[in-house]
Amino acid sequence: MTTSVPIRPCRDDERETILEIVNAAAEAYRGVIPDDCWHEPYMPAEELDAEMGAGVDFWGYESDGELVGVMGVQPVKDVVLIRHAYVLPERQGEGIGRALLEHLRGLTDRPILIGTWAAAEWAIRFYERNGFERVSEERKNELLSTYWTIPARQIETSVVLAQSR
Ligand SMILES: CC(C)(COP(=O)(O)OP(=O)(O)OC[C@H]1O[C@@H](n2cnc3c(N)ncnc32)[C@H](O)[C@@H]1OP(=O)(O)O)[C@@H](O)C(=O)NCCC(=O)NCCS
Repeated sequence: MTTSVPIRPCRDDERETILEIVNAAAEAYRGVIPDDCWHEPYMPAEELDAEMGAGVDFWGYESDGELVGVMGVQPVKDVVLIRHAYVLPERQGEGIGRALLEHLRGLTDRPILIGTWAAAEWAIRFYERNGFERVSEERKNELLSTYWTIPARQIETSVVLAQSR
């Protein structure tokens, strides 16, 4: 019996589907992240285009021929960033996020860094259970300004996780 791996690079014509997954899953942030950081849609089409243009490669998890989860990787300088990890709300908690993270981790020997909202406790727990740990506040500020291009307010309200030693 052969089992096909449900994880594959997203195709260029799947931008609409990626946005649907991101924006459905990002509902989790509503009322949780600071109000001035929330906007609707959470990720507009232009932002996805810009992220892809900046080198974020999206990978998807396919189930019954449909994408149900996406995760991006972005090589920056000497590290790889995991960007935009989202699983459809009705498919969360099934191990799809973990499978995507494991897959992307296997693609590189470089150190991997992940940034997320400090208020997204479930996301932080998800990464902690999967081999990542929060870096200190000082290191976070350093890493966010070295490897990410985000506004000062987002630096203030984010955390960074690195692989546990
Ligand atoms: C964070 C996220 C990507 C994780 O993907 P996922 O497919 O739900 O994760 P997994 O199924 O691999 O679950 C990981 C763990 O969290 C638990 N879990 C995650 N979401 C859950 C939910 N909605 N209900 C119950 N358990 C949940 C699982 O039981 C599992 O626990 P375990 O590691 O002890 O077995 C996904 O939940 C999501 O899209 N959340 C909303 C958006 C978000 O926070 N994105 C992160 C951006 S950095």
